[in-house]
Amino acid sequence: MKYEPTRLEIFLTRIVFLLCGKSVYRAFADRLPLDGGEQVLDFGCGMGTVAYYAAKKLPHGHLTCLDISKRWLNACRKTLRGYRNISFLLWESLQLTNESFDVAYCHFVLHDIPASELERVIPELAGSLKPGGVLVLREPFNETNKISLIKRLVQQNRLISKDSRITDIPMMGNALECVYIKK
Ligand SMILES: C[S@@+](CC[C@H](N)C(=O)[O-])C[C@H]1O[C@@H](n2cnc3c(N)ncnc32)[C@H](O)[C@@H]1O
Repeated sequence: MKYEPTRLEIFLTRIVFLLCGKSVYRAFADRLPLDGGEQVLDFGCGMGTVAYYAAKKLPHGHLTCLDISKRWLNACRKTLRGYRNISFLLWESLQLTNESFDVAYCHFVLHDIPASELERVIPELAGSLKPGGVLVLREPFNETNKISLIKRLVQQNRLISKDSRITDIPMMGNALECVYIKK
């Protein structure tokens, strides 16, 4: 389902990013398993809240920021201007290259995607990871039905659960963070 944010929504997200960037987004980026040289995918990058911190951790690597919305992707370009290790991709199905990423992460993205679309998105996400690659998800804890579906689809696509934790996010409540490794 295609959806473009209003200017107000982008503006308010920027304010939250300025106020909570370190505690919410940097904390998540700091937990990503990065050594500095990985090929990384930010699926549903929005305005680049996590990407802003993740890109700094990739001095020899590369970050692909992907979103279904042109407006969010443009906002992301603005947040990340000055970085050289980033490319931007507008999401279209069947576009991710097979086994090209070491790490992919989705931060507050999958719970918003309808079930029928998740059945296409998750196999593509899984297919875009190298063997041994890592998928990290963070989704609102109260989205229990969506979380069950996501877990089922992820496991059906050769991804093995490695770790999970619940984190408390200011103003957003509890979130579930899961780490999977591709067989
Ligand atoms: C709640 S925002 C989260 C943005 C960012 N990850 C963050 O945490 O600030 C969800 C994002 O997912 C994007 N999105 C939704 N469905 C998508 C899809 N099928 N493929 C790629 N991006 C999608 C939206 O356009 C939006 O930018």
